[in-house]
Amino acid sequence: MSQDAAEKTILTGVKPTGAPHIGNYIGAIRPALALAAAHKESFLFIADYHALNAVRDPKALKHDSYEVAACWLALGLDPAKTVFYRQSDVPEIFELTQLLAAVTPKGLMDRAHSYKAAVDKNREAGRDPDADVNMGLYTYPILMAADILAMDTGIVPVGRDQVQHIEFARDMAGYFNNTFKDVFRLPEHALGAETAATLPGLDGRKMSKSYNNHIPVFMESKARRKLVMKIVTDSKLPEEPKDPDTNTVFQIYAHVAGETEVRAMRDAFEKGGMGYGDAKQRLYAALELAFEKPTQLYNDYMADPQKIDALLAAGADKARAVARKTLTRARAAVGLNPLR
Ligand code: TRP
Repeated sequence: MSQDAAEKTILTGVKPTGAPHIGNYIGAIRPALALAAAHKESFLFIADYHALNAVRDPKALKHDSYEVAACWLALGLDPAKTVFYRQSDVPEIFELTQLLAAVTPKGLMDRAHSYKAAVDKNREAGRDPDADVNMGLYTYPILMAADILAMDTGIVPVGRDQVQHIEFARDMAGYFNNTFKDVFRLPEHALGAETAATLPGLDGRKMSKSYNNHIPVFMESKARRKLVMKIVTDSKLPEEPKDPDTNTVFQIYAHVAGETEVRAMRDAFEKGGMGYGDAKQRLYAALELAFEKPTQLYNDYMADPQKIDALLAAGADKARAVARKTLTRARAAVGLNPLR
């Protein structure tokens, strides 16, 4: 990363989507933590209002927020360095959403991928195109723009599916700045997540909860060991040479073990002499080293939600201070009185 980029404020929103597996960790969480650590200013928030568009169980909404908070904290997010908060604890974001809505053409929302995908699905099923589409989903990009613009964000690391949302946030910031005056910094996206690794799962297909071939990050050692032993391999004998690059055990190991260990396993597979049982044992040891402590931490946090609340409240205070400044500028620009 260039020095210049490191100076820019970076912001990421995470929807609470349940406990992560190691593919999520390697592909998304670990790179996001590294980016946050490398930037001078970083924000990471739990997008609970975004989640609300689909969740109808208040207990689940609450629980899922704790779960995602405990997850990031256990995996190394430093709340002293990264401003870590719940979106719903920063009311300034929602007021900003309304100010942005006033300059956002409806047509922009009609073109949003997520809305279009919902409409297409309904059409295919022969339903009303807007069936089950609530206004929260429809205006999702405005809230997301407010998330970003409120914090004077420079860079938003995203996967390809989210690029349009960042472009929309730029569009909205531009509409507003041109209509009134320069209030918002124009954010850019960074496609970090695209170069990130995807891990194979137990059966060799992409690791995914929907295939049920995943290894959770947080689990007891015994259960972890059991899962690792279930990884599907061919029936080559230990002494036979094997191709590490088509070998699920190695593919996972390569992302969790140290460089020297990875090289040693690669060499042993290529030369022959590395059996799958031995390789699985090493993979298990590497996973233990990486996730045994985080699992303990995660369990400790989940047993003490008040601690999570206190951390997130402190983060929200910091986030509110920033958002309040942005909102103050925006209100003045359109001709509203200052915040009281
Ligand atoms: N829409 C993002 C997702 O589905 C989550 C999100 C909400 C977000 N607000 C954001 C991401 C702001 C980055 C910046 O993953």
